[in-house]
Amino acid sequence: MAYEHLIDLNDLSVSKWNEIISLALKIKKNESVYSEACKNKILATLFYEPSTRTQMSFQTAMLRLGGQIIGFDNPQNSSVSKGENLTDTIRIVSGYADILAMRHPLEGAAKAAALYAECPVINAGDGGHLHPTQTLTDLVTLQSEKGSLSGLTVGLCGDLKYGRTVHSLIKALSMYPDNRFILISTKELSIPQYIKDWMNSHNCPYRECYSLAEAIPELDVLYMTRIQKERFASEEEYRQQKNVYILDMQKLFSAKQDLCILHPLPRVDEIDLNVDKDPRAMYFKQAVNGVYARMALIITLLNAREQTSLLSHHN
Ligand code: NCD
Repeated sequence: MAYEHLIDLNDLSVSKWNEIISLALKIKKNESVYSEACKNKILATLFYEPSTRTQMSFQTAMLRLGGQIIGFDNPQNSSVSKGENLTDTIRIVSGYADILAMRHPLEGAAKAAALYAECPVINAGDGGHLHPTQTLTDLVTLQSEKGSLSGLTVGLCGDLKYGRTVHSLIKALSMYPDNRFILISTKELSIPQYIKDWMNSHNCPYRECYSLAEAIPELDVLYMTRIQKERFASEEEYRQQKNVYILDMQKLFSAKQDLCILHPLPRVDEIDLNVDKDPRAMYFKQAVNGVYARMALIITLLNAREQTSLLSHHN
């Protein structure tokens, strides 16, 4: 049966994203109304890579919707360590659960999983490729803090090469009118060509730039990122890149008063702790919004699943 999955946000229409974003904000305002929305439903979280926020926020989301959770966050404790392949694991677990969230180090793994799953699959990060539920979280935060998803000058800073949250966010924001991007990175960690091609084909203006201090006065949104240590070929290459960009109060001095500072977290050293107290720092609010974004997504995909099953019964 063909289920509605979430592998790449751009597989869904922008009006669908807007529905999910407004549902997330509705849930945030009046959470108790949704406390049984997923009663008797099971979410499986299959995490083949470390995670704190993403996995826990998925689990929290399902529990707050009255559903239940199963899964693993250390494949060594599952049959994966006995040599079970991904497709067998997916076939089995999707027979136990109603919906599945998966994180995997290989690009394209979630897409492959969706081919074998007997339930909707959510991509919770596939290697350095995409991270659509982080993007939903970012969009919910921007909608609630800036009141709009268009007309924004967005600076993305740090690891633009391996940062999957960056790739997903650019792909999403370029679908809304009048956004432009300033891509702040070293040459080694610059944005992949396919994302540049995407911006070009969506007529979305962008500029690449080395200096955060130079770019900061122009920005409405600053998206800081961690250097993705685990994706480097050697420790030496990582060491050359770490600590190139550190956002501190001195740099913020020349920023707009209504700048929105985001970070998918975890943070290493790229945002000085003093920035946390600045009202423009939105990253902890952003992490809280991740639960509402995922609650809205789970409700939406499970409703779509029910529609699919009803239709197949009729046919
Ligand atoms: C991000 C990820 O996993 O890509 N974390 C997250 O899901 N919030 C960012 C990161 O690990 O740097």
